[in-house]
Amino acid sequence: MSGFHLLEPRASTFASSYDWLFFTMVVMCSVVAIGVFVVLTVFSIRYRRGASVDRTPFSGSSHPIEYAWTITPFLIFLGIFVWAAILYAEAKTPPPGALDVSVVAKQWMWKLQHSEGRREINELHLPLGRPVRLVMTSEDVIHSFYVPAFRVKQDVLPGRYTELWFQATRTGEYPLECAEYCGTDHARMTGRIIVMQPAQYATWLSRGNLAPSMAAAGEERFRSLGCSGCHGANASVHAPKLEGVFGHPVHLSDGRTVIADESYIRDSILLPTKDVVAGFVPIMPSFQGQVSEGDLLELIAYIKSLANAAPPPRQR
Ligand code: CUA
Repeated sequence: MSGFHLLEPRASTFASSYDWLFFTMVVMCSVVAIGVFVVLTVFSIRYRRGASVDRTPFSGSSHPIEYAWTITPFLIFLGIFVWAAILYAEAKTPPPGALDVSVVAKQWMWKLQHSEGRREINELHLPLGRPVRLVMTSEDVIHSFYVPAFRVKQDVLPGRYTELWFQATRTGEYPLECAEYCGTDHARMTGRIIVMQPAQYATWLSRGNLAPSMAAAGEERFRSLGCSGCHGANASVHAPKLEGVFGHPVHLSDGRTVIADESYIRDSILLPTKDVVAGFVPIMPSFQGQVSEGDLLELIAYIKSLANAAPPPRQR
């Protein structure tokens, strides 16, 4: 840290647009607050007790003034709402083709894994200029993934996935913080994001990568847990096939249709009776307590890798 600065340097595509919104709101609030205090002070002095000023009450009304003070704030608030809503929608919509990184938070560390398999703790190496999408969950309490230089923050919750995306615009190291009080060592639950040139990143990723890819590890687990016994190509049990499912709509037995995303797959493994696929009976056992958050993310990576695979011929 060199010296004091009010805000971290802007290092993501979001940073300057969020700063503009923030500064605009600060300036507007300041103008209103200063205006109120100036009028308050002037009136207090001018109309103090004993001063000889005109105190006849104002009677009558002025429609133009009433319209002006009603419509002007309305338009300003509406403008800010639309501006912020556009930024919000952008922040909640990761572009297709983003680099996926899995994040598991626990008291008091960040465990990260690249889809190629490489794991990191409290550090995240990323390539410059490429959108990155984090799928995050917690093993215990609520944490919050916060990168001030990127102007992004997202709560990380136990029992479900939250998502965060950004695109770095400058190489360098940026602090990662936990922004939700999560226990004794909350303040020490920090790390760093290292943004590298794409070529450098590729070297980094291949050099330290001794682990199989997340999808390969997931496939291994898919067999060892016995999932393939029902969902595999040669299974005799009547279970939904998983090829071509991820990212596509799934019709459920209660008439709902959902998109098979990470949360849907997670729930199907842990709470199999929650979203039963139309045409199937809820005979699958829950795997709650048998799989860790890391296992789940690998299983999901495997099912995701089947997203574009052709369904086997004897579907349903
Ligand atoms: Cu984790 Cu605060």
